[in-house]
Amino acid sequence: VIIDGKKIANDIQAEIRNTILLFSGRKPCLAVILVGNHLASEIYVKRKTQACESVGILVIIKRMPSTIQINDLLAEITALNEDPSVDGILVQLPLPAHINPMPIIHAIQPDKDIDGFHPLNVGKMLIGETGGFIPCTPLGIQFLLSRSSIEMTGKHVVILGRSNIVGKPLAALLMQNTPDGNATVTVAHRHSTNLKELCLLADILIVAIGQPKFITANMVRDGAIIIDVGINKIDNPTQIQGYQIVGDVDFINVEPKCSYITPVPGGVGPMTIAMLLRNTLISYQNRLQLNKT
Ligand SMILES: NC(=O)c1ccc[n+]([C@@H]2O[C@H](COP(=O)([O-])OP(=O)(O)OC[C@H]3O[C@@H](n4cnc5c(N)ncnc54)[C@H](OP(=O)(O)O)[C@@H]3O)[C@@H](O)[C@H]2O)c1
Repeated sequence: VIIDGKKIANDIQAEIRNTILLFSGRKPCLAVILVGNHLASEIYVKRKTQACESVGILVIIKRMPSTIQINDLLAEITALNEDPSVDGILVQLPLPAHINPMPIIHAIQPDKDIDGFHPLNVGKMLIGETGGFIPCTPLGIQFLLSRSSIEMTGKHVVILGRSNIVGKPLAALLMQNTPDGNATVTVAHRHSTNLKELCLLADILIVAIGQPKFITANMVRDGAIIIDVGINKIDNPTQIQGYQIVGDVDFINVEPKCSYITPVPGGVGPMTIAMLLRNTLISYQNRLQLNKT
């Protein structure tokens, strides 16, 4: 089965749109801070904006020059934290090299941190406490698996990559004692030895390393489930634009061996955006509830 992330994401977006229609008064609002002219960031922000607007979420884009100083950026975040009409704050990464992203992530009020990167939200997820925000890519992967009716309990999940935005939170999420968790999780990285043998142990192999077509057919056991998080641009003169987007998995050769696989594009990517909308909606609902009491 080729898991159609685009369709699942569209279904979730339709559910979000219908929920938002039930509310009168102000609309949910996401504030996006975009620093500099990073081309990929511009494209990501455009996609997120289009998706938000398609479900009825307002988007405010705050553009900042790449020369901005950290104090000015922090002041902008403080203003958005204090603005009662803003439900979510997203700082598009990467930031210019002279700005350390950690103080920026810390400055976002945890109840507006719809990316789920603030240490309070990361900690809540790790100890299995509800009510925090879960990072969009790991949450999107969990939704992809559950909406594909893939049972997680007792499965051996091998995750390649240990970044703070994908690998680590995903491991924490899938090992929780929850109906969509309860997996046995192994996390591998550049220093892991016997990578091929580890991959061959996986019932579910999730790859988030940013290495084009790294996972080859001989690293996958028959019937495994493959989730490809990677987004890599490789040269391809046969394409009009001269390049193509591929994942971390050698899709053509791996696909015949596995039971389920996500394509790139059209797998995890659209789910990440759907979860951003979902987290913003939850923040909006939380805020309305608080204002009532
Ligand atoms: N679809 C989506 O929505 C989405 C969202 C986020 C990211 N992505 C994509 O997912 C990929 C990973 O993103 P990221 O932000 O997590 O990347 P990252 O911060 O660069 O982390 C990459 C991780 O992969 C590990 N790694 C790299 N090469 C490896 C190798 N040869 N063998 C074993 N481990 C290796 C690194 O190990 P060390 O820690 O040892 O260095 C690191 O933990 C990228 O292609 C990115 O574009 C997609």
